[in-house]
Amino acid sequence: MVPATAIGALLPLLLLVSDFFTGQLGANPLQRAEQQTGVLALSLLLLSLSTTPLRLIAARADLRLLWPARVRKTLGLTGALYAGVHLLIYGLDKGFNPLNFLSDVLKRPYITVGLSALLLLVPLVLTSRKDSVKRLGFERWTRLHRLSYLVAALGVLHFWWSVKKDHTGPVIALMLLLALFGIRLLLQRRTKARERKAAV
Ligand code: HEM
Repeated sequence: MVPATAIGALLPLLLLVSDFFTGQLGANPLQRAEQQTGVLALSLLLLSLSTTPLRLIAARADLRLLWPARVRKTLGLTGALYAGVHLLIYGLDKGFNPLNFLSDVLKRPYITVGLSALLLLVPLVLTSRKDSVKRLGFERWTRLHRLSYLVAALGVLHFWWSVKKDHTGPVIALMLLLALFGIRLLLQRRTKARERKAAV
């Protein structure tokens, strides 16, 4: 399951590299590559967030699904990889000039938001190994990894701001994020209430 997920998640990157080198990305290939990696990063992060609500929904129907938890990390890490490639392409587009980058971060709020999302991804990636759960303790690790919702929310805001005309993509991403957050909150509360009831 995990290798298949990784291959599926990395396939678009291979296609993008091949399209880039065969000149199939149109008149502005760097911009196209920037857009595609941005959308892929956000999509994989949202997919990773969808695994817990899916498991909770299945559990309510007395189905014990193991694969969502197994693929969650792969989806999150490949999402972070696309975000890194996205930044790399942006850097390439700007000639890797740190002053240009700093001026963009200070002057363009959507870049500030994108950078914040990327920086917040760093501790999540660094603590993605199993031994980090042991080192931090389950409670602290879980609290830290709730940041993934903030990363996705900043990603959606960044998407919204970066798009000039058609906001269909950002609207879909926002609806998905709200639905995932809502389902998780609702089902977790119900599960806790049931557990409390069973305990008394
Ligand atoms: C330092 C970090 C980042 C920088 C400098 C950056 C830069 C950019 C730029 C310049 C664009 C506009 C491309 C264009 O249409 O010309 C863009 C679009 C986008 N970025 Fe980022 N980004 C960053 C981080 C992120 C992260 C972390 C995510 C995902 C969570 C993300 C997702 C997106 C999406 C979805 C788009 C819209 C693509 C489209 O127009 O279809 N970005 N980004």
